[in-house]
Amino acid sequence: MRHPANVAVRLVDYRPADFLIDAVALDISLDRTASKVVATLSLRRNPKGAPGAPLSLDGDDLTLVGVKLDGRPLGPQDYTAAPDHLLLEKVPDGPFTLEIETRVDPSANTQLSGLYRSGSAYCTQCEAEGFRRITYFLDRPDVLSVYTTRVEGDKGEAPILLSNGNPVKSGNLPDGRHYAVWRDPFPKPSYLFALVGGDLGALRDSFTTMSGRKIDLAIYVEHGKEARATYAMDALKRSMRWDEEKFGREYDLDVFNIVAVSDFNMGAMENKGLNIFNDKYVLASPETATDGDYAGIEGVIAHEYFHNWTGNRITCRDWFQLCLKEGLTVFRDQEFSADMRSRAVERIGDVRGLRLAQFPEDGGPLAHPVRPEVYHEINNFYTATVYEKGAEIVRMLRTLIGDETFRRGMDIYFERFDGTAATVEDYLSCFAEASGRDLSHFALWYSQAGTPILSTEGAYDPQAKTFSLTLKQHTPPTPGQSEKKPLVVPVAFALFGENGEKLELASPDARADELARGLIELTDAERKITFAGVASRPVVSALRGFSAPVRLEPAPESADLEKLLACDDDPFNRWQAAQSLALRAIFARVDAAKKGAQTPQAPGFIGALRTILAGADADPAFAAQALSLPSEIDLAREAGHDVDPDVLFSARYGLREEIGRALGADAEPIYRRLSDAGPYSPDAASAGRRMLKALALDLVAAGDPEKGSALARSQFAAAGNMTDRLGALTLLALLGGEAREAAFAAFYEQYKGDALVLDKWFSLQATIPEPATTKRVVDLMRHPDFSLTNPNRVRSLIGAFSNANLTGFHALDGSGYDLLTRIVLELDPKNPQLAARLLSALRSWRTLEPRRRGLIEERLRHIAAQGNLSPDTKDIATRALS
Ligand code: PHE
Ligand code: ZN
Repeated sequence: MRHPANVAVRLVDYRPADFLIDAVALDISLDRTASKVVATLSLRRNPKGAPGAPLSLDGDDLTLVGVKLDGRPLGPQDYTAAPDHLLLEKVPDGPFTLEIETRVDPSANTQLSGLYRSGSAYCTQCEAEGFRRITYFLDRPDVLSVYTTRVEGDKGEAPILLSNGNPVKSGNLPDGRHYAVWRDPFPKPSYLFALVGGDLGALRDSFTTMSGRKIDLAIYVEHGKEARATYAMDALKRSMRWDEEKFGREYDLDVFNIVAVSDFNMGAMENKGLNIFNDKYVLASPETATDGDYAGIEGVIAHEYFHNWTGNRITCRDWFQLCLKEGLTVFRDQEFSADMRSRAVERIGDVRGLRLAQFPEDGGPLAHPVRPEVYHEINNFYTATVYEKGAEIVRMLRTLIGDETFRRGMDIYFERFDGTAATVEDYLSCFAEASGRDLSHFALWYSQAGTPILSTEGAYDPQAKTFSLTLKQHTPPTPGQSEKKPLVVPVAFALFGENGEKLELASPDARADELARGLIELTDAERKITFAGVASRPVVSALRGFSAPVRLEPAPESADLEKLLACDDDPFNRWQAAQSLALRAIFARVDAAKKGAQTPQAPGFIGALRTILAGADADPAFAAQALSLPSEIDLAREAGHDVDPDVLFSARYGLREEIGRALGADAEPIYRRLSDAGPYSPDAASAGRRMLKALALDLVAAGDPEKGSALARSQFAAAGNMTDRLGALTLLALLGGEAREAAFAAFYEQYKGDALVLDKWFSLQATIPEPATTKRVVDLMRHPDFSLTNPNRVRSLIGAFSNANLTGFHALDGSGYDLLTRIVLELDPKNPQLAARLLSALRSWRTLEPRRRGLIEERLRHIAAQGNLSPDTKDIATRALS
């Protein structure tokens, strides 16, 4: 494969396109190896472009058949064509049409970008730069066109022919072929184009919008799996209603189609009127999907649907503005899930996700601003920073200006920028207008990378009855940004008195609205606020609800944490208090192990857990979250430097046993009581009870492995749903021995025909925290069900091993690193996007102890030195080493 020159694209170099394409007529005739594409583009010069500029169209791996200008065939002297561009030096000054015929080979398309085959279906993926793999085009998000698409295919092979917009007509053709014409009246960029052809089953429904329009809905899946799309359909209808109620946004086409495919690089794609999904985020049944899978489906269905307004009706001017659609849409899907489920549990989950994926990115060599200023490969910028930190910025904006003003700003945004390709500045201008605030300082969140560190320091003066709170912020340097400025940090806070009562706040150092809302705006490096009339030393609850994406250091003293755990009315900070206590207890063990000192016990912490367990019935999901120990990955991140995974593992495992011995007896009756639940329902309350049940079982097993194993074996055998079955298998996998192998074998026998369930089987084995796991993974790569061509399968084995098995992957002999290196290099020529993403598992390598650091550096250098590496993998390897 030929790779394009590795050039830097910079935000400062943005120029409007030299031409505009008002309309596109596509005629695509599907064929397995030679699909014919005829694109008729209605072009004119962009008044904002460079006068007299030639017409230069993007291509990628294309075979040109012919070009016509205003109906007249052109000869080779009239243009220069290459697989990656089509250049016409001389074109008319007035509007003109260009007809371009290309051939593409969907069967040979293993990178899953452009037109490819998933199973026996034809499908497309065009974001970010896949449309240029279908035809020559101005493949950039600020060129918006109205598309009419005629798709033709074999009637037997592809009875279903779909594209964007509304169906216009369809009919039969000679030789067993047929066609369908689709028209999308909303101007859109090429990355939102989509087409599907295949023999698919459909689950159909309808939705009546707030203005009374009836929309036909369909979810297309493999035949026989229609019923498994029921939950996705329900989530879709709830999303449509929610966007009307919460944001006043109505759906705009007559139909909305979703297609589930099994070979997909990402989660899903928001193509206008034709969302294409990784089937993992569509298909669910109680027997095959866990509670986590159901929540994931709900969130991703909502996310893609919400893109119809935030992404499609208003799109991005250029790819530097990616967070404009992604951060905002993640914020919207998180709010939707919070409304559908428990707001507190959703927030805890979202923050855990941010810390798991975004903090390490922001603290390592791959750090970049939410709006990057330069990229070499845009596919590598669909990151946790752009998505999750981007969502946090929107959330902070809402926190600062208040819900109502935020909604007014959104209304202005939809009103003013509908039908355009907008920028972050455009977006912020709407909120500046709605709130009357100058948001220029706030905007720094978009351009400054790195996770700020926030510290609080309290001083109580018993004579004066005052309490002084000093807030400080600083952001450590990140690649290319050595100097950091203070940001606008909204710090939600409260003070609690001796008896756990919340104190009234009075201070000359804060604005009245700050005191009334319990929200301090920290805009400088430091701010001191002295509160008056404080009868005794209070406890500070800071960063309530995780009001800003920062690290709060240090955590309050243990006594204060125990108090917050008992009395804070902010559930997020109650959970945080439990986590901070757990971290402290584990790191005390780590320190003792390093010094060879006696293992410290954690009676205070265990007492607090006992209280949570006793009250768990009131909110099982919350209790389960609060009782869960931070994972080894959490520990590695919190440790931050010279990480030795084995030491962290032992410390955590030891504390787990201590807790189990203390609380196992309390947990067992809870486990037994929660075991007779009725039939499965995926709702949040039922899922919360199952989560608590799994936790209770883990506590029993931690204290008494024999008993835990017996309970897990019977739960595994008798489970009526996948959540319980997989929960039991997870515990058996940890406990090891023959019971584990028997359970894995039985699970395989039962589910070997179901790819999504088999992914779980691969993943779970890859995450067994044992030295022997590397060998197990190597063996599993030879399993007949393993394949490098299916991204879900690769992620389930290799992704899980390298991202979620701290001790196994980081084995001191380097075997885990060798395995990843081998796979990345083997995969790179086939699917560079996937290879690059796998490689980014090494992004935190500098936080490891020296020996492992050295081993990884060697592998990264080896990868970076390969000739003919894809730009995707080269970019990650190079930046990781920077
Ligand atoms: N835009 C998609 C989403 O966030 C993600 C995606 C990006 C999918 C690139 C495919 C390719 O919803
Ligand atoms: Zn998105």
